[in-house]
Amino acid sequence: MEDLSPRPGDLEPIETASRDEISALQLARLKTTLAHAYANSPFYRAKFDAHGVHPDDLKTLADLSKFPFTVKTDLRDTYPFGMFAVPQKDIVRIHASSGTTGKPTVVGYTRKDIDTWAGVVARSIRASGGRPGDIVHVAYGYGLFTGGLGAHYGAEKLGCTVVPISGGMTERQITLIEDFKPRIIMVTPSYMLSILDEFRRAGIDPRETSLAVGIFGAEPWTNAMRQEIEQAFDMHAVDIYGLSEVMGPGVANECVETKDGLHIWEDHFYPEIIDPVTGEVLPDGSEGELVFTSLTKEALPIIRYRTRDLTRLLPGTARSMRRMEKITGRSDDMIILRGVNVFPTQVEEQILKCKGLAPHFQIELTRSGRMDAMTVKVEAASGHETDEARAHAAKELAHHIKSVIGVSTRIDVGTPGSVERSAGKARRVIDNRPKG
Ligand code: DLL
Repeated sequence: MEDLSPRPGDLEPIETASRDEISALQLARLKTTLAHAYANSPFYRAKFDAHGVHPDDLKTLADLSKFPFTVKTDLRDTYPFGMFAVPQKDIVRIHASSGTTGKPTVVGYTRKDIDTWAGVVARSIRASGGRPGDIVHVAYGYGLFTGGLGAHYGAEKLGCTVVPISGGMTERQITLIEDFKPRIIMVTPSYMLSILDEFRRAGIDPRETSLAVGIFGAEPWTNAMRQEIEQAFDMHAVDIYGLSEVMGPGVANECVETKDGLHIWEDHFYPEIIDPVTGEVLPDGSEGELVFTSLTKEALPIIRYRTRDLTRLLPGTARSMRRMEKITGRSDDMIILRGVNVFPTQVEEQILKCKGLAPHFQIELTRSGRMDAMTVKVEAASGHETDEARAHAAKELAHHIKSVIGVSTRIDVGTPGSVERSAGKARRVIDNRPKG
């Protein structure tokens, strides 16, 4: 694979600034953000007043812990525009996340917010090894989801040629990759696997495509999956993170030269790690729930937003800004099976160890009597479809899961194509346990 380390002059000065410079900038921006939220969002004014805090109480970055958290239900309760801190006429864009229950959460952007967002996505694509002039195939969904348009504006800002194909119609994805010869692809890692299957079905060697870099995010994926994709396509696979409440994609991104976790673009997003139960701020290096405060957003300043994503904060390496470790999972996706905590990412790692299995999977939870049970639905890899090979692979996976994660599971090895596919985020857990 190509060496894509940045060349002199590639980086913005803030990417290699000293920690002192970064902290000073964060403190100044945090003060402005708190003052803006308090003055212009009745929601935040009421929340701060009820909590007995005022923006003037923030003298140091650590003082942020005095302020109340914001949670997803705050956005739902103020649906649709109740948290905005600018008049609606100044909002140039709305996005929303569908959510599984009830109303979607709605977010808004001013023109300056869109420009800031494009800037951090451009920086993310550059960190991934993208350069002006590259053709970028954007297969994240376009629409209310932030993935497609977020990637799109960032790629344009970097000076790339964007192919806004969106997700789905997998055969056409292959045709356009073959014909337009993009150097970069931006897509969920699970949909990239569907694209991989389609290349193989079409008899095209995926290692021979023009793709040099994939920028994958919007769902958890493991280093084992990185290896799988890198080997299959002979390309770099880099992680991009973000969430609509905080901005969209481009809150944090890995650097292609190190691939050692995601640098948080700390000049725009201030991270904290908290104990998910007590809400206490934990020191860097501890595993906990990631919390973000926006530092430059106008339309929807977000103060101490609880992401539910579990990770650790680590010192900077390829850039001065701190890193977050690859996300283990969302606290909402954690399965507690007979007292053992299980994340779908742990199951993914074990599946990728088994030669006879394809990397598509889904976990089904059921209950018989008072006992919860977990079934991992996977597929035989091509060439391993016989009953005997499938039984062998099932046994192997059950053994890995039992010995590494510590739970007994049923394994259902189907034929290739039997596991549900998605053109966006994969649905990893299906909970068929009776409610209540
Ligand atoms: O998924 C934004 C995005 C689009 C990120 C494209 C990256 C690429 P939401 O739909 O609001 O926004 O979902 C946000 O997705 O809280 C995480 O749980 C999960 N997530 C996003 N990126 C990653 C990642 C977009 N790289 C939620 N690794 C977040 C693990 C991720 N989980």
